[in-house]
Amino acid sequence: MGSRQLHPANYPMPTKTSQPIRIGIIGSGAVSDYHHVPAIRLDPRATLTAACDANADLLAKRKNEWDVNLVSTDPEVICASPDVDAVIIATPNFTHRAIAESAARHGKHIMCEKPLGLNAGEVRSMYEAARDANVVHMTAFTYRFAPSMRYLKHLVGGGALGEPRHFRSQRFLDWPETSWGWRQYQHLAGAGDLFDMTIHRIDFAQDLLGPIARVTGALARFAPRTRTVDGKPCEPSNVDDWSSILGEFTCGATGVWEGTTLAKGYGRDGFGHEWAEINGSEGSAVYQLHEPNTILVGKTGQDLAPVTVPAEFLKPAESPRNPADGKPATVFRYDLVWEFVSAIVEGRGAVPDFYDGLRAQRVADAVIESYAQRRWLELGEEPR
Ligand SMILES: NC(=O)c1ccc[n+]([C@@H]2O[C@H](COP(=O)([O-])OP(=O)(O)OC[C@H]3O[C@@H](n4cnc5c(N)ncnc54)[C@H](O)[C@@H]3O)[C@@H](O)[C@H]2O)c1
Repeated sequence: MGSRQLHPANYPMPTKTSQPIRIGIIGSGAVSDYHHVPAIRLDPRATLTAACDANADLLAKRKNEWDVNLVSTDPEVICASPDVDAVIIATPNFTHRAIAESAARHGKHIMCEKPLGLNAGEVRSMYEAARDANVVHMTAFTYRFAPSMRYLKHLVGGGALGEPRHFRSQRFLDWPETSWGWRQYQHLAGAGDLFDMTIHRIDFAQDLLGPIARVTGALARFAPRTRTVDGKPCEPSNVDDWSSILGEFTCGATGVWEGTTLAKGYGRDGFGHEWAEINGSEGSAVYQLHEPNTILVGKTGQDLAPVTVPAEFLKPAESPRNPADGKPATVFRYDLVWEFVSAIVEGRGAVPDFYDGLRAQRVADAVIESYAQRRWLELGEEPR
């Protein structure tokens, strides 16, 4: 990932590298265990020193599994600790804002999971707090780090596809129709598929093609989710399990997005179906999550054909990660922590940052509003 040129006043001071960056994980659930902790283990410039979770039993288990000394059920303890340089926030969405703002107040660098908050108002407040505290801030928009996505960005930016005309994204999952826990309630999650899945695709679309100027969208909920996995009754879901967007980019390209968790037959070893493509005036190129080391490329007169992603796009240049180790659709996720720690030690802004999280959130919010009003909405400018 390239470094973003921030205004000099916004450069965080590089953190001294003689000692590893001491990271505290806040929210020790699934994504921390699958993505963030293995990523910290791979990075010799970082060490995991603290863990937090509201669930004391889970925390006790993680203390043991992750071998951390400082544990607390209170995020404030981790944010205030002199033994923590940076935090990774991976709690349910409704808690992100208070934790991120506390971390900023204590001068900690912050990587926060997506969606950054429940709405753009919350996210703007988080962005301003982190920016004004001069800490590194990063949004965990995972799929920007897929090798095929990085290569696609290179091709689009270098003009290999000509003038971009259409962007198209499909994210189809075949998930059980049982409860999603906190994820299925608006006051805890904000929205369903739109904030959980499609928001990543809003982000990488804007990374590839620049700002989205206007959108209209539609949402639907099919599964009531009134039973937990082990059969206990629960309150029905009030969030979408299908989301769609029709949009226009400032550059003139069109965009179409569709996401669902109810696409029967799209299991694909747990990774589901993901297809994102750009049709330009000279050619088309396609990213697919389940084969992230290959893209499909085609020009007029040729069918789309696989092209192996060149080695330089398989991982960040300096990272010691061996791209041949592990499942390709899993291991690029470790590069988020690499980028976060690189930004801290190099004293630069992380990419993607909270501003990117805000840009994506504004689009996602507009989708909800446009559907409620059954009309198109203009996004307008968002000052940095
Ligand atoms: N970037 C990605 O690809 C990706 C993937 C999965 C999840 N996520 C995001 O990560 C976040 C966490 O998701 P998850 O799947 O790990 O959820 P999870 O439910 O497995 O874990 C969340 C954990 O946070 C704990 N928690 C709840 N409130 C807390 C609080 N106030 N303080 C401390 N701990 C608290 C819970 O006990 C739970 O263990 C969500 O925002 C989600 O959208 C992102």
